Amino acid sequence: MPLHRLPCVILVTLLLQPPGTVLAEKPLSAARQAELETLLYQDCGSCHGMTLRGGLGPALPASRMNAYSRDSLASLILNGVAGTAMPGWAGLLSEQDARWLADHLQHDNPLKE
Ligand code: HEC
Repeated sequence: MPLHRLPCVILVTLLLQPPGTVLAEKPLSAARQAELETLLYQDCGSCHGMTLRGGLGPALPASRMNAYSRDSLASLILNGVAGTAMPGWAGLLSEQDARWLADHLQHDNPLKE
């Protein structure tokens, strides 16, 4: 293969990867997961209740959280809900953090219904 075509071949190879494989996600460290759990029940809990049963913000039971895809839930957390008290958390949380929280709310949620 002529050398000048190499960058093109590399680009096409990258583009043909299924989404997610190029930037494969490392799992969050146990320490970060513990911080996020504290944030969820304390900071988010200040509005949604420390047991997620609701307060100023609505309850966040697993049944309701599973109405969202993990990614749409993560972007709701990062961007907030315009015109409501729900703030965006993009300043404090990475996308990976937000996906972890979304996953926790969907699959590890103490509040089922
Ligand atoms: C200052 C209060 C406040 C804080 C803090 C807060 N929220 Fe909210 N949140 C709200 C309100 C109010 C709504 C309802 C918005 C609406 O009317 O659509 C909401 C909505 C939501 C929803 C959608 C609920 C549904 O039934 O569709 C999710 C999910 C959510 N918040 C997650 C979080 C998470 C995770 C955090 C912490 C990272 C957080 N919130 C922190 C006030 C807050």
